[in-house]
Amino acid sequence: MDSILVRGGSPLNGQIPIAGAKNACLTLMPATLLSDEPLTLTNAPRLSDIRTMTQLLQSLGAEVTSLQDGQVIAMSTHGAVNTRAEYDIVRKMRASNLVLGPLLAREGHAQVSLPGGCAIGARPMDIHTDGLAKMGAEIDLQDGYLHAKAVGGKLKGAVIEFPFASVGATENILMAATLAKGSTVIKNAAREPEIVDLATCLRAMGAQIDGDGTSTIEIQGVDRLHGATHRVVTDRIELGTYMLAPAICGGEVELLGGRIDLVGAFCEKLDVAGISVTETDKGLKVSRKNGRIRAVDVTTEPFPGFPTDLQAQMMALLCTAEGTSVLEEKIFENRFMHAPELIRMGAKIEVHGGTATVTGVEKLKGAPVMATDLRASVSLILAGLAAEGETRVARVYHLDRGYEHVVRKFSGVGADIERVQGE
Ligand code: EPZ
Repeated sequence: MDSILVRGGSPLNGQIPIAGAKNACLTLMPATLLSDEPLTLTNAPRLSDIRTMTQLLQSLGAEVTSLQDGQVIAMSTHGAVNTRAEYDIVRKMRASNLVLGPLLAREGHAQVSLPGGCAIGARPMDIHTDGLAKMGAEIDLQDGYLHAKAVGGKLKGAVIEFPFASVGATENILMAATLAKGSTVIKNAAREPEIVDLATCLRAMGAQIDGDGTSTIEIQGVDRLHGATHRVVTDRIELGTYMLAPAICGGEVELLGGRIDLVGAFCEKLDVAGISVTETDKGLKVSRKNGRIRAVDVTTEPFPGFPTDLQAQMMALLCTAEGTSVLEEKIFENRFMHAPELIRMGAKIEVHGGTATVTGVEKLKGAPVMATDLRASVSLILAGLAAEGETRVARVYHLDRGYEHVVRKFSGVGADIERVQGE
């Protein structure tokens, strides 16, 4: 398994291009199942998760072709498709469960393996299945697979109120509802930009959707959807991650393609911490206001609140802030695995359940550390960029899931970073 070596201490200056959103692309790709006409995505990120979704859709019978070095994904699905999503693909990536809604909408039945838990939590699918059941799907669990069937062969519109604003459940129900008979209302829907991006693409395919981006989404089912070409929205989590690089190391970096509306709550916390963010005609420019970073409290919430996917990265910044910060992780039950690794670098962190208390220290010290999940891995790189000495981050396959060309992007602004094959 590869490692990444980081030698800290240099301020960062220059520009970093931000790619298309992994979490938008992973829900846009299954939308090809909703039509027998071609769906083409542009500005797609080059990531291993996208390759996994490609494999899954091909196993279902979709034609998926990657063009322009992976930045364009051309898809088309003709005739009947295989409706069984196999465990050996689904277990690699939870987002595989986003084929459930589209398969039910297209074929009236589906067998989708439960993804199983992952490092950050149990990740159940009850909100997805309860919603689909309200739309007339009979779903039962057999040998680790969800066996789903639309009674009468076609889903029906329904009023569905989510107990929690689940991103994936909103996406599954939204896609299923586009071809259901009648109208569907999703209450307490997730409001993430990736939901708006999916709805925008589905409307381009002929779907009738209103209210995406708010807590109530209304969908009027139609008989069929046609093909479309859609540009994947900018990745707000990659954006926020790289905004923290000059914040932690000093210097000034412009994030090309960055949009302030995608990272509102995050920027509010950066402002309190002493980071300046200015909009330019190419994106967002980030630098420290003056002096040391100040401590700030963070609670993760569904959008538009502070994103859980930036919690680990924010913790890396706060390790050397002046004062004590309290981070509350309210979305996942086990998302502080980066804390023990940061402690190996000299951070002062106490974790009690879903709360981590970080007491700032002057400097972190480089050390060998272990990536445990996608966002934890990049938070260790950020910490290493500011630490004295050398940090070796092992198991960087986690990184390849969500960050394209990470060494090139960091070294492009002056970071002393390299990837070491195997170890
Ligand atoms: C999406 O996961 C993202 N993944 C996650 O990003 C992100 O952290 C998460 O939304 C929250 O923003 C993709 O978009 C591919 P949820 P998802 O359903 O849809 C519980 C990354 O790093 N829940 O909003 O799985 C669940 O256990 C990844 O890019 C149920 O209890 O998130 C969790 O505690 C990590 N029952 C919480 O809700 C359900 O049926 C949030 O889950 C569904 C979810």
